[in-house]
Amino acid sequence: MAETATAPLATALDYDPFRPDFYTSDPFGTYRRMRDEAPVYWSERWGWYALTRFEDVRAAALDADTFRSFEGMDIDDSRLEQVPPGSIGSMDNPRHDEVRSVVQPYFLPRRIAQLEDGIRAVVRELVDSWRDRGAGGRGTVDLAQELAWPMPFDVFFHLMGLPSRHDDDPLERARRDQLEHWTHELKDRVPGTPHLTPVARAATAGVQQFFIDLLEDRRRAARDDLVTAFVNADIDGVPFVGERVTTESEVSGLMMILFLGGVESTAGLTGTLFELLAENPDQRALLQADPSLVPAAVEEAMRLITPLQLTARTTSREVTLHGVTIPAGGRVVLIPGAANRDERQFPDPDAFDITRPRGRHLGFGEGVHGCLGAPLARLEARIALEEALPVLGDYQPAGPPTFYPSSPNMYVWKNLPITFGRDGRRPHVEAVSHRTTTVTLATTEFEAEALVVAKREEADGVVSLSLREAGDRPLPAWGPGSHVDLVLDGAPTRQYSLCGDPADHHGYRLGVLRDPDGRGGSRYVHDRLAVGDRVRVRGPRNNFPLVASPRYLFIAGGIGITPVLPMIRAAEAAGADWRLVYGGRRRASMAFLDELAAYGDRVSVRPQDETGLLDLDALLGTPQPDTLVYCCGPEPLLAAVEQRCAGWPHAALHVERFAPRPQGEPARTEAFEVDLGRSELTLTVPPDRSILSVVEEAGVGVLSSCAEGTCGTCETAVLGGVPDHRDSVLTDDERQANDCMMICVSRARTDRLVLDL
Ligand code: FES
Repeated sequence: MAETATAPLATALDYDPFRPDFYTSDPFGTYRRMRDEAPVYWSERWGWYALTRFEDVRAAALDADTFRSFEGMDIDDSRLEQVPPGSIGSMDNPRHDEVRSVVQPYFLPRRIAQLEDGIRAVVRELVDSWRDRGAGGRGTVDLAQELAWPMPFDVFFHLMGLPSRHDDDPLERARRDQLEHWTHELKDRVPGTPHLTPVARAATAGVQQFFIDLLEDRRRAARDDLVTAFVNADIDGVPFVGERVTTESEVSGLMMILFLGGVESTAGLTGTLFELLAENPDQRALLQADPSLVPAAVEEAMRLITPLQLTARTTSREVTLHGVTIPAGGRVVLIPGAANRDERQFPDPDAFDITRPRGRHLGFGEGVHGCLGAPLARLEARIALEEALPVLGDYQPAGPPTFYPSSPNMYVWKNLPITFGRDGRRPHVEAVSHRTTTVTLATTEFEAEALVVAKREEADGVVSLSLREAGDRPLPAWGPGSHVDLVLDGAPTRQYSLCGDPADHHGYRLGVLRDPDGRGGSRYVHDRLAVGDRVRVRGPRNNFPLVASPRYLFIAGGIGITPVLPMIRAAEAAGADWRLVYGGRRRASMAFLDELAAYGDRVSVRPQDETGLLDLDALLGTPQPDTLVYCCGPEPLLAAVEQRCAGWPHAALHVERFAPRPQGEPARTEAFEVDLGRSELTLTVPPDRSILSVVEEAGVGVLSSCAEGTCGTCETAVLGGVPDHRDSVLTDDERQANDCMMICVSRARTDRLVLDL
């Protein structure tokens, strides 16, 4: 019997920017259909038309005689209540140009350029407030709340001569906080409707009065700020405030527009920029390699996700477009957010491509109502990238971003949590000791010559080394769980956990177990290295970071106690509820017992010859709520702990291996190709060789250390293809992200990998 094909039912084209989930449920798909199926869209529900094609939106914005602004440029109540009639957003010419001529000089690019140092100081202060969270491990930051929003707030406050967040006067700080608070409340809408809530109305009244009071303040005492400039401005000798502009409330409306436009849209642009770079690591890598692309990245973000998605006009005459007649007095919504993705104007319009040939986009509007503050927004976004990106490195989302409950016009993020750190340092070129030779290569690693200032026997077969930088300069910051490479002349480079105090910026302490069957690194340390000798240290890096938790169970076996020592110190300092179970063969072979004694019965010392093997069933048999398990020790202990924790919540268990985790067969046994994007090389990796060795043979410098997938040194960003992860460093989540790999041991699941080398 022949099958009957049934065409899927076309869904109705429903454009409703008041719908609470509109901007989080693929608005760009709706826009695409509007451009194709209804370029002049009629909203029966709201009684307005909408234009979405680039040429149509641009033509309407440029034809201010036909598409007028006297009914305001918003589509909700805010056009009437938050921007009073008669203020610049509701003005047509010639009045609009007259008023704009007063404000415009303060926003000319050359005038804005003079603000660069001040804006950079604002951004640096914000970045400095979270920069150290990524030192020595993965830290988290909310880029919306801790950069994208506060930056334009601070800049606007500075422009308006308003108190800074550090103002000495608590009353001034309170005024500032109140204004900031109101700004968010202004956005409160009755869900699914164009109506402001009473909270938004009260906030609107508060902000307007704030600006009216501010004008009065500056009348009494002039300052070097924009508000004083308004007070003193004139148009052809006639005072600006009180004459040409008839009421102060109109000027307060003007300031409201500057405020909302300057803060919210810049927060939107900046947040989106970092969000797009997180989603597009290939573009981020391009930007990191060539910072001259920063302005292009800003423009591309503005095009792709335009903060001001729509604006409204009212027709002064009948207009016929694409066969649809809009009557005189018709309300028309122009959607730059849709026009900027018009395939008739932009090839591959949904792609974020910072190398896209520069072309006109409508992100800052066009015509008489083109964005006054565009030079300022561009400058702020550029500085945010320049200052934050080197600190953030190859950051990754730490959770789903949340959307700001904003007006129907705006596309702005409320929260953008990301993690950054381990690989968050700026790549630089330096000469480093690489195996037995010194090579020059691009690295994010720190390497320093250090002096052995103390060597102490901690237990049978265990010594600790205390190191200081040879010039007594500070060493890189680190966090619990970090390790460094000890680069020794005449012995293999080995990795050792840092077991000192992270607060000591001038010293590292390592614990080293003599391994008679090892490759010789520990024997060298035990037998030959002496106080006063020089060694090289590289790193630190952290594959075993301590995640904040109210409760911890630490399990250490033998020399696995070393990374745990700074962890328990941190847990104690944080007031966490923690416990350490420390196993070893014999008491005499268990290091640092004297230090551990200070923690009393939080620490259980379990020498095997006295108490037998650790009772892991008792420790781990029942998953404990809100508890993270950290384990370091020999492979049998780790495997047993992993098995017992199989039923624990996802991500409750954290382990660190000193030896490679046993691996199954590789996913494929044939050769595969690696494309090295930056080196412009394509190489074949045969089944019996590692990517690392093939890449090195081709003359591409890659820092590596353990060559067995345990140290994380050779971590390389993956730009394409799917790796076959065979390391002992990455967590399951990191493996599934497939955006980096350890090329000393990991291979490919696909015919080809594209690596950032
Ligand atoms: Fe250590 Fe690759 S060199 S993980």
